[in-house]
Parts: sequence; C-alpha cells; structure tokens
Amino acid sequence: MTSGPTLESIFLAQRRLDGLIHRTPLVRSQSISSMLGREVRFKAENLQITGSFKIRGALNKISELAQSNTPGVVTASSGNHGQAVAWAARHFGLPARVVVPVTAPAIKVEAARSYGAIVESCGSRSRERLERAQRIAQETGYAFVPPYDDPAVMSGQGTLGLEILSDWPQVDTVVVPIGGGGLISGIATAIKSCRPEVRIIGVEPEGAAKATLSRQAGRRVELASTASIADGLITLALGHLTYPIIERYVDDLVTVSETAIQESLWLLMARLKMVVEPSGAAAAACVLTPGPHQALLGQAVVAVLSGGNVDPAQVPATPPPEFKIPH
Ligand SMILES: Cc1ncc(COP(=O)(O)O)c(C=O)c1O
Repeated sequence: MTSGPTLESIFLAQRRLDGLIHRTPLVRSQSISSMLGREVRFKAENLQITGSFKIRGALNKISELAQSNTPGVVTASSGNHGQAVAWAARHFGLPARVVVPVTAPAIKVEAARSYGAIVESCGSRSRERLERAQRIAQETGYAFVPPYDDPAVMSGQGTLGLEILSDWPQVDTVVVPIGGGGLISGIATAIKSCRPEVRIIGVEPEGAAKATLSRQAGRRVELASTASIADGLITLALGHLTYPIIERYVDDLVTVSETAIQESLWLLMARLKMVVEPSGAAAAACVLTPGPHQALLGQAVVAVLSGGNVDPAQVPATPPPEFKIPH
C-alpha cells in the first residue's frame, strides 16, 4: 500500500466493513437548518458500533493483520481508538492490549475492558503511551495498531466519506474534527477523489490548533501542550502521513472555543436528541456558532458527529450560562 489512502483502498475497506458496522444516518433538523439559513445534516457516528467512527479504521487494519497471522494487537489511545481496537480484535479472535492516559474517561476504559482487552494506564502524554505500547509490541510480538498515521486506518475512516456522498449527492461542504488527522485524511481523500468541488473544512479546539498552526508555518508543527474538553482532539501534532494529506485536500481550517463546543453539546441534545461527546461536537460547533467562518460554509453542509462516548456523570446538570435554544 502507498503512504496514504487511495480511492481503491477506501473501496476495499468498504467491502471489508460491509455487514460489520452500522450505516449511520445523516440526521437533519428543520429548526437548525432554518436558523442557519442553509441545509445542515449531521453524520451520526455517535450511533456507530463502539460509539465512534474509530471502529472503521480499526476493523480495516486488523482484518489485514489477521491475514498475516499476528499473535495479537496493541495500541495507545485516548479512548475511542482503544475501544475500537478491542472490539475489532475480538471480532477476529485476537488478544488485544490497550495503553490509555491516566486521564482517559472511565466510560472508554471500561468499554475496552468489556470487549476483552487488557487495559493499562500510562502517563498523560501521547509519547509516553506510544513508547509503552511499542515496548509491549516488542515483548509479545503483537502488531501495533496506530490511531491515525496509517494507510489502512485512514482508508477505513474514508468509508465515512463514501457514505456521505452516496446518501446526499447534493452535499457541497463537509466539516470534520481533527485530532491526529486520520479521520479527515480518509474522508477528504474519498470525497476529493470523487467530487473535487466539495469543500472540506477541518475543525480543532483553540487549545489544540496543531493543523492551523502547521498550515501557517508551512511545516508540521508540534505543540508543547494542548488543552480542551475534547479529549480526542488534544493530540500535540498531526501525523507524518496525515499532515501532507491535509495540506493537499483540506480547503479550510477553523478553530472553535470551549464554550462553542459546550453549547453545541446542548443544542444537539435539545434539537436532535443526540448524545455526543465533546470531540464529536467540534464540527457541529463550527457550523452552529456565529463568526467569520460561516462564510466558508455552502448551502448543503454535513457536520460529522464523530463520537458519543460521554460519561453520563460528566454531563453538566445545567446548560452553559450563555446557552439559549434558538427558535
Ligand atoms: C470522537 C472523536 N472525534 C474525532 C477524533 C479525531 O480523529 P483523528 O485522530 O483521526 O483526527 C477522535 C480521536 O480520538 C475522536 O475520538
């Protein structure tokens, strides 16, 4: 395989995933569309198996590894990828080990364990987790499953782009959250290969603006630290493979505030009846909040709700102070 996904590798992933995962709906809300003056639909990956899109890349990668007789798989993940690897490994009858940060939400850790993985906590920095996972791989012979910087993982995520195009051919803008960049790399490759005129917008929290700062600098920037309630988007840097794909295919990059993410969580719950985790609400925050970025959006917009693994105990009992349901 080449260093990035291709339309062919994404179609291959789609055939591998067929029948194993949900075809998640493109959900619309009349009130949100009329409030914004454009047609907006939400790709509900919060309803996906394991609660996030991550199962797509994990299943595609592990189906390849299963053919090469690996004795097991190991990964380092802030949560959703770990859950997905645990589920996919169990599907292929392989043992799985998952290294998570000490700060990983309990709901994600418990879910990975419930799928049969051995989960261990290690530090709070992605580099520490990665080193620990690589040591486990050396000791056990297990194959490492990267969270984003891998062609098979990106190809799996790209199947989401094919579904958007086929379910809503009129779409003109697709808005996607960015962590390490695997999701947007797969989606953008799928969509730009089929329909280059569709605009792809990447969204990241203000406190983790690695893609925006990399584009400004003209090189892949590694941040010293990141902070956001969107725990899946606080990666310090884009991947070595995802960075050039994002530079090639992603038209615009937008940062969103913590308040915008929180307000979107409430709006999605109030209007769409959707439970979404903060990382999964970042693209919606871009679409729903006012600002100059509104000019980038077209008339037929999809925002990817990338995950729904929110710990019920963490949902605030009252909406953010500024929150008002629009009418
Ligand atoms: C819910 C959710 N959305 C988006 C992302 C970002 O995905 P990527 O790292 O492929 O950019 C993650 C990553 O963990 C996630 O869990």
